[in-house]
Amino acid sequence: MGVKIYLYPFWLRIWHWVNAILIILLIITGISMQYSNPEYPLIRFDIAVTIHNLSGILLTASYMFFLIFNLGGPNRKYYRLQIKGLGNRLMKQFRYYISGIFKGEKAPFPISEKRKFNPLQKLTYVLTMYIGIPLILITGWALLFPEVIIHNFLGASGLYLTALFHVMIGFFLSIFLFIHIYFATIGKTAASNFRAMINGWHEAHD
Ligand code: HEM
Repeated sequence: MGVKIYLYPFWLRIWHWVNAILIILLIITGISMQYSNPEYPLIRFDIAVTIHNLSGILLTASYMFFLIFNLGGPNRKYYRLQIKGLGNRLMKQFRYYISGIFKGEKAPFPISEKRKFNPLQKLTYVLTMYIGIPLILITGWALLFPEVIIHNFLGASGLYLTALFHVMIGFFLSIFLFIHIYFATIGKTAASNFRAMINGWHEAHD
């Protein structure tokens, strides 16, 4: 039996899986609306719109829940970025991921109760949770109530620019999800990080 650290409180696990399901629904319906051929849609257009809108509204509620619990409790500290020396720490972690890990070297920033995320992980979580999600929610709500969008921005349609921006952030969040799931498999065993996000206990490398 290796060492186990309790890192994922109950509220976080509930939020995380609700969030994951909603984001997957949003990505599937979003892709279906973006590329659908009206004759052979992946998902019938009006159904995709309804699921996308409902999931977006629920995601807003689940994001509020995350903000309140994450900013109002001890989990907040794991999301505090220290700018000084950040570049060096990111490089160290990056080098580990492209080389050290394959040579069986020890992780440069092992997980502990004091440090839940390595520097690269922390930066991506901060960018995703504090910039990506708010931007996609704001542009999504604007598209739901397009009368709030300015008509013309530097000669281009405000509606078009908002839609374009919304799709671009959606693209980046989809890339995040792919990378996130891949990295989730490099825990102690391929399944241990997934188990940790279900029962709360992180299984440390020996
Ligand atoms: C099927 C989809 C997903 C799977 C299988 C998954 C898996 C995991 C796992 C195993 C962890 C714990 C270990 C780690 O930090 O890497 C985790 C943490 C996390 N995931 Fe996901 N995830 C998914 C979707 C998402 C999505 C869509 C987001 C956000 C847009 C997200 C954001 C996070 C965040 C912020 C954490 C750290 C939470 C904390 O400890 O404060 N995940 N995920």
